[in-house]
Amino acid sequence: MKNPFYQKDIISCNELTKEDIAILFETASDIRKRVTEGKSIDTLAGKILSLLFFEPSSRTFSSFVSAMQRLGGGIIPITDVSHTSLVKGETFEDTVTTFSRLSDTIVIRHPREGSAKDASAVSDIPVINAGDGAGEHPTQALLDVFTILDHFKDMSSLRVTLAGDLLYGRTVHSLIRLLGLFHVSEIRLVSPTELQMPEDLVSTIQQLSISVSQTQDLADAISDTDVLYMTRVQKERFTDPLGYERLKDSFVITPETMKHLPKNAILMHPLPRIHEIAKEVDSDSRSMYFREQIPNGMYIRMALLSLILKK
Ligand code: CP
Repeated sequence: MKNPFYQKDIISCNELTKEDIAILFETASDIRKRVTEGKSIDTLAGKILSLLFFEPSSRTFSSFVSAMQRLGGGIIPITDVSHTSLVKGETFEDTVTTFSRLSDTIVIRHPREGSAKDASAVSDIPVINAGDGAGEHPTQALLDVFTILDHFKDMSSLRVTLAGDLLYGRTVHSLIRLLGLFHVSEIRLVSPTELQMPEDLVSTIQQLSISVSQTQDLADAISDTDVLYMTRVQKERFTDPLGYERLKDSFVITPETMKHLPKNAILMHPLPRIHEIAKEVDSDSRSMYFREQIPNGMYIRMALLSLILKK
């Protein structure tokens, strides 16, 4: 079996094929089984991962750290760039070049859209995009689809509802690309008018002959959906704080909302959750964000690092 990920950058979901993703998911399933059986895996002993996080993170950063260390590799963890030579005036490009000479793969999160692609242009080792502004977050979308496939074997019959901040939410920008690749049956977009999915992404999906609708009626949209994917309003992308205050609670999932969601549907969220899902919903058996998405994120990242670094 040819490994399509070997020494490859992961910048956008546009660059992935269904065949690539099948290989990744098979590897992740195998790793998940081995980890849950308590078996150790040290296939990346001697390899080093640089984590360059120019924006805060709890899950993505920690799951890459956990993934690399569970595989026997080492890490260079940079979470506070004020402790790097960037503050002395070193350029972004020189910083990336430096870490590319010290490690075997770079994971980067940065507030500027396009930054991961720029990093890959100067790096001679693979670069993984862990979020570039409002651009993309491909490893999040991969773990999301991996989670969905644990519940629904046939992606092509799925009705998926994406809700919340669809303008600035990079996780949904990556996820909608994968939903298009897997040719789901229908996508419903629920957001305030000011936070709608970028038009180019909507038309890309429509060109695939997938039904796409936009609404503000959450209860109606979810009444026969299979997957409800909530997102938070991305406070850090607003230039006008009043705009955030006005929109932050546009859609909130409560136990009452959950009555509209079918019994066999699932509720997902990339996290962090602020106000958009009430705490009482966490114990609902359909809520996947803490129970499944977080551990699956680690398994997907273990699989990705293994495939990128070993032939
Ligand atoms: N889902 C996600 O990207 O979470 P963090 O911002 O905590 O990494």
